[in-house]
This record gives sequence, structure tokens and C-alpha cells, in this order.
Amino acid sequence: MANQWHEVAASEDLPVESAKEVVIDGRIIAVFRTEKGLFAIDGMCAHQGGPIAEGIVQHDCVTCPWHGWQYELASGIQTINRQPLQETLEVREKDNKIEIRL
Ligand code: FES
Repeated sequence: MANQWHEVAASEDLPVESAKEVVIDGRIIAVFRTEKGLFAIDGMCAHQGGPIAEGIVQHDCVTCPWHGWQYELASGIQTINRQPLQETLEVREKDNKIEIRL
């Protein structure tokens, strides 16, 4: 059902400086935990579908491992053309679980 919180991982499975690819209703989502908190963003790169969860995170951005497109984790904005190419989703931590709203 749309617009509900979905449990995607236990808190301990997503330590600081880590990422995880999850699937909700067939949709691939990349979840990150940085020192600034949790972020959830489309898991398939807007360029050619690369695995965003496998990207390198630096300076609040993730770089796609396939061809290097870079996105801000909080906004999904592509850092070169400043367009919001990757959708971001609400993510929270509750009762030692990571949840995403979709
Ligand atoms: S698929 Fe991500 S940069 Fe090309």
C-alpha cells in the first residue's frame, strides 16, 4: 500500500558509514547512514541504472560506481547539472529498525 512505513533492516545492520540496497514493492532503494543520519534515495542511477548503494559516499554525496554521476544524499540533486534526478524518500529509525516511507 502506498505511503506507509516499511521496515527494511535492523538498526545494527546499518552502522555509520554504511549503505544497504533494499527492495520495497519491487522498487530498489539505497539506504545510507552517515555521521549526519539516515538517507534513502532511488537505488537505480538515473543515468543507466547503476547500483547507487554501492557508490562511494563523500561530502554528503554518493557517486555512482558505474560512470561517476554524483548525487546529494539529502536531495537527490545531481551535482553537475543541479537537477533532482534521484528521488529521495523519508527514512526513520524506530524500535531498533530502519523504516522507509513509500
Ligand atoms: S549508471 Fe550511474 S553514472 Fe552511469
